[in-house]
Amino acid sequence: MLNFDFYNPTHILFGKGRIADLNKVIPENAKVLLLYGGGSIKQNGVFDEVIAALGTRSVTEFTGIEPNPSYETLMQAVEVIKNGQIDFLLAVGGGSVIDGTKFIAAAALFEGGDPWAILEKRGSNITKALPFGSVLTLPATGSEMNAGAVVTRKSIKAKMAFSSPHCYPKFSILDPTKTYTLPVRQIGNGAVDAFVHVMEQYMTYPVNSPVQDRFAEGLLKTLIEEGPKALKNPEDYDVRANLMWCATMALNGLISAGVPQDWATHMIGHELTALHGIDHAQTLAIVLPSMLRVRKESKRAKLLQYAERIWDLRDGDEDTRIETAISRTQDFFEQMGVKTRLSDYALNASNIDPIVAALETHRMVALGEKRDVTLNISRQVLELSL
Ligand code: NZQ
Ligand code: ZN
Repeated sequence: MLNFDFYNPTHILFGKGRIADLNKVIPENAKVLLLYGGGSIKQNGVFDEVIAALGTRSVTEFTGIEPNPSYETLMQAVEVIKNGQIDFLLAVGGGSVIDGTKFIAAAALFEGGDPWAILEKRGSNITKALPFGSVLTLPATGSEMNAGAVVTRKSIKAKMAFSSPHCYPKFSILDPTKTYTLPVRQIGNGAVDAFVHVMEQYMTYPVNSPVQDRFAEGLLKTLIEEGPKALKNPEDYDVRANLMWCATMALNGLISAGVPQDWATHMIGHELTALHGIDHAQTLAIVLPSMLRVRKESKRAKLLQYAERIWDLRDGDEDTRIETAISRTQDFFEQMGVKTRLSDYALNASNIDPIVAALETHRMVALGEKRDVTLNISRQVLELSL
């Protein structure tokens, strides 16, 4: 096992009716900036519950944080903070609203000039951030219990990630009943994103870490079992609760402690979203199966473990077991309604050069757990995904 630090200070309040507890976790005299997206929270009653729970606190609203939150929109919120008296941020929504809030929290107190520098330095230049909490409405990203965020600068078509220990939410409220109104597309996206998060931390090479491996395998099996049930019975509380907790546990630092991590699929996926507006999880469903096929040799031991423990593939030669496990993974994504080929999103071979060029611009030239995913390998992965 590798050396590691494990630190996660986010207070999770999980279960039905927990939004009312906002009253306990936000200081009574807080001046709150309530941040949300395109309005889903107004339709499903979450907004009203949040306002009721905030009681007499001063509340300013900032709406319109879009999926794949943009630097351009988020800087408008930074202006609101600078003009008014705000000392606590409350993100209500999915990963985009929470990620956007993390950027705003850091940018509002940033002293190094244009806050875009936060993205350029991947967050290493953040020295402080406003305190914030979240009410999660879409289980997928794990942003509710981690210190990372992804921000898009539309003007230059760049989607970049940062993280900082100053950007953990103080708390996150996870009420599974608030996910009942998710459209089918977002249910599928959420399960696929969480699945690929686990894979990025698990599907590398063995370092004798049975605890992390079995945690990861438990999450993968749960997603495979519960994901399709959520599509079939959208208002089954237990299914939604298990999916929600699974997505949080998939990216809160627990399963990555002491093991190598990959993340090449995510980095290529970010370029696909920045250039073509494809949903985050859709990009992962396109890239991951080909990524595993192209890098089969360096991941062989873990692929065989995955084939056996997740898909119960014990017989036959190694290459057949590995290929079957990868196609079952791809089938699972398709079963969740998430298409797995570039052509499903109207992209073809002519789109590959610009994606590779964007990877180069963003210095994504040595990706993966062994830093051996060159631009040439990324190109092979994309070609195999056509
Ligand atoms: O904007 P509103 O109106 O709220 O609608 C949203 C949005 O259109 C809707 N939605 C959310 N909860 C709902 C709902 N609709 C009905 N009922 C509900 N309960 O869903 C749509 C998508 O929301 P979004 O927040 O964009 O989705 P997601 O949670 O998948 O977040 C994706 C973003 O997170 C980043 C992605 O790159 C992407 O920008 N990621 C963040 C990570 C992190 N912080 O650790 C890791 C991930 O790998 C990922 O990169
Ligand atoms: Zn992701």
